[in-house]
Amino acid sequence: MNPHRRKLLLRSAAAVAATAVCGPAFAIGGDDTSSADLHIELSAGLDEVAIQPGAKTRVWRYRAKLLAGAPAALDTSMVAPIIRVHRGQRIRVDLVNNLPESTIIHWHGLHVPEDMDGHPRFAIAPGERYQYVFTVRNRGGSYWFHPHPHGRTGKQVYAGLAGLFLVSDDDEAALALPSGAFDMPLVIQDRNFDQDNQLVYPGGAMAAAPQGGGMMGGRMGSMMGGTGGTGGMGGGMAGMMGVLGDTILVNGAPDVLRPVERKAYRIRLFNACNTRTLKLAWSDNTAMQVIASDGGLLDAPVQRDYVMLAPAERVELWVDFSRWPTGATPVLASQAFDTGMGMGSMMRTMMGGDNALANGAAFPVGRFKIGSAAVAGPAMPQRLTPIAPPQDRLAVNADRPKVFELTMGMMRWGINGQSFDMLAASELETVKLGTQEIWEFRNDGGAMMGMTMPHSMHIHGLQFRVIGRTISSSRARGYDTVKAGLVDGGWKDTVLVMPGERVRVLLRFEDFTGLFLYHCHMLEHEDIGMMRNYRVVA
Ligand code: C2O
Ligand code: CU
Ligand code: CU
Repeated sequence: MNPHRRKLLLRSAAAVAATAVCGPAFAIGGDDTSSADLHIELSAGLDEVAIQPGAKTRVWRYRAKLLAGAPAALDTSMVAPIIRVHRGQRIRVDLVNNLPESTIIHWHGLHVPEDMDGHPRFAIAPGERYQYVFTVRNRGGSYWFHPHPHGRTGKQVYAGLAGLFLVSDDDEAALALPSGAFDMPLVIQDRNFDQDNQLVYPGGAMAAAPQGGGMMGGRMGSMMGGTGGTGGMGGGMAGMMGVLGDTILVNGAPDVLRPVERKAYRIRLFNACNTRTLKLAWSDNTAMQVIASDGGLLDAPVQRDYVMLAPAERVELWVDFSRWPTGATPVLASQAFDTGMGMGSMMRTMMGGDNALANGAAFPVGRFKIGSAAVAGPAMPQRLTPIAPPQDRLAVNADRPKVFELTMGMMRWGINGQSFDMLAASELETVKLGTQEIWEFRNDGGAMMGMTMPHSMHIHGLQFRVIGRTISSSRARGYDTVKAGLVDGGWKDTVLVMPGERVRVLLRFEDFTGLFLYHCHMLEHEDIGMMRNYRVVA
């Protein structure tokens, strides 16, 4: 028996339980994997890529290989692979771990059974494989995937491990949105580079590429040098504040001038930064037409002067580049906003905040170069896909939302004062299959050193609706710098919760029982414990 099979069998107790609930859509291993519409191998390993002029940068990345299915389903032109699937397709992905440490893949935003979701309890050791087989049940939309080993998610994503999972469906196809070269995903990330073009991450660096002779030492520190015993950064100031980079990468490259035709584009924006929240706008103040959020198309386009995008959130824009003259170079920028961090100068000095690009600071994200002659293109549809209003009255706790305080204690973020516990879910965190619940995330602020921060709350395994936000009056002024950029009307899997804010979301637990995560998607917060499980019981 090969180790791969053994891994599958080890998971089978949970699988059997889940199969009883969700029937044939859930099946792992066995012969039915041959019926997959798409079969891709993703091997996580070390590589070197040219990012900036000069030396290549050592990264960790997924190398993707199409083993079965339509060639158009896989785009490997960027460091991050792009997988394109259609709703209803059966997908098989084999993860091969060629990293020097354990890993697992999580499909961010997808509604899949618990053992397909990439919970850290399923992390595989170097040399091992994990086989994913699932049916794409989500609406068309811009989803993504990334590692999720406990305590090291931040480092592994930072090192380059991420990919896009773009789902189409029939509703979307009926709208004939811009496609091909006019469907442009833009993945925004911030990184720090040293003088040799190598990525800098607190508590340890990336391992060298194979030709570089193994692990890095010296200046960049030992990769296993975290203080938390997890091999990641552990706690400490960087874990508490999160890692910010001063170099902005879009699709893995700094400062690219993107040629575009004078025509309508569908631009999919991903905030794949570890901690940085973006306030995206055109620098000439052209209004943004938002057509989709995390879980796919909105009911109808909404117009915004700027769009807030917390780590892991996505929006899609309809951009008609014919509004700019030939030769113009419109700039997509992140504008300044008040993070409400209310942090003393001592804290700022301790975290070295004065020499990095601060969270909430303004910077350019990307430039476009407008081509000649306008090409007649499609007009933006006035209706997209119908989304029924959220039925909060149907929630089993409609009158008593469950409260999740985003807390800090002992220099560690937590939720209701608790840290991550691999297999535990409290009574509060136990929900019943087939029901809806209202949860309220409260960022009322930890008292410690007067520090509060925005958080980016993400719930695994489902898409939810945002049904309400309240801001404390003492925070209203800072909040005015972000509130007009929130896009809450559609399906969401991640939501920005500003300091002083309470956000209520409506969740529906469908199809799958089991243990799923919810956490702050500021990855260093997640890694030091701002993550918990919830359990769906039959
Ligand atoms: Cu993209 Cu657990 O997250
Ligand atoms: Cu997720
Ligand atoms: Cu956080």
